[in-house]
Amino acid sequence: MRIAVAREIDATESRVAATPETVKKMKALGADIAVEPDAGTKSGIPDAEFAAAGATVTSGAVKDADVVLMMDPYGEDAALKAMADAGVVAFAMELLPRITRAQVMDVLSSQANLAGYRAVVDAAAEYGRAFPMMMTAAGTVPAAKVFVMGAGVAGLQAIATARRLGAIVTATDVRPAAKEQVESLGAKFIALEDEEFKQAETAAGYAKEMSKEYQAKQAALVADHIKKQDIVITTALIPGRPAPRLVSKEMVASMRPGSVIVDLAVERGGNCELAKAGEVVDARGVKIVGYRNVPGRIAASASSLYARNLFAFLEILVDKSTKALAVDWNDEIVKATALTRDGAVIHPSFAPKSAA
Ligand code: NAI
Repeated sequence: MRIAVAREIDATESRVAATPETVKKMKALGADIAVEPDAGTKSGIPDAEFAAAGATVTSGAVKDADVVLMMDPYGEDAALKAMADAGVVAFAMELLPRITRAQVMDVLSSQANLAGYRAVVDAAAEYGRAFPMMMTAAGTVPAAKVFVMGAGVAGLQAIATARRLGAIVTATDVRPAAKEQVESLGAKFIALEDEEFKQAETAAGYAKEMSKEYQAKQAALVADHIKKQDIVITTALIPGRPAPRLVSKEMVASMRPGSVIVDLAVERGGNCELAKAGEVVDARGVKIVGYRNVPGRIAASASSLYARNLFAFLEILVDKSTKALAVDWNDEIVKATALTRDGAVIHPSFAPKSAA
């Protein structure tokens, strides 16, 4: 079994799908590993470290490989079809079910956690004041007020990070389960807790899209709170839908100059009306940070966790006794993540719509 680690062709992608640590583990699974030159450079892993771990570094890594570690399936219909036509079996880590057994492979969580951390670091870098309260001989500097919108994996890490930096933190979410988690991190929970809120969590643990009435009441609550905040970090997402619009341009205008908004949902349409993907917008002194690929801004840590997630996934595709690929098509993790098989794109979210 030959496993290839591709160098990302997207110039904005700084992560890599394997590390010297997982190369050793894959070798122990019985695989030969080939790594494209420079695959790990942007994550601080020189080719020599891959070679020292037992990989072959070669520009022909992908040719003749049985397994290739890479890919992002969204918006890549032509590439998916080409893979299906070539008889490739492709899996997407983004599609993992969030069941206990899959936690160790959960790339959405491992990357969102780092994005939440990085969002606070990026906010602190743009903010012209300190986060913690400081009592000095020259006088007192007040603590920054940080408001985190969306308290899932990224939001909870943003809360924890902002607290460690000494900020006064509040947070909101539409799922009732988030309240206790927010409070356990020492932040204050702010939300409209009506009957709809009590029903807002799906069986899979995600948020539902809220009614227009709820959204209007939520906006009124947020509008009053946001004008007193120094930093707003937005992370709110709804699976399969555009990101909910939570911060209007009027709300931005109500904030003090020097305030900072970091929109982690910017690639999914944005939680903030004025956010632009890939840009830091200056809205009359309020900075709105809309970096793309925030996990890639902390590439070495992101690659290290991503590579471990991928290794855990690979383990379920390999027969340990024969040391060969042996995909169990009845495994629920396999079924949920398979994109292409037997010459076709098979995943319902990506398969071409049939004429019927
Ligand atoms: P996500 O990335 O889909 O959304 C982020 C957050 O935005 C969610 O907490 C969501 O409730 C919130 N949100 C959506 N609409 C909103 C609105 N209008 N206003 C405010 N907030 C809004 O969610 P994520 O981070 O992927 O996690 C969702 C849940 O899944 C969490 O409870 C998490 O703990 C759980 N989870 C469970 C795992 C497992 O293996 N059992 C693994 C990972 C996460």
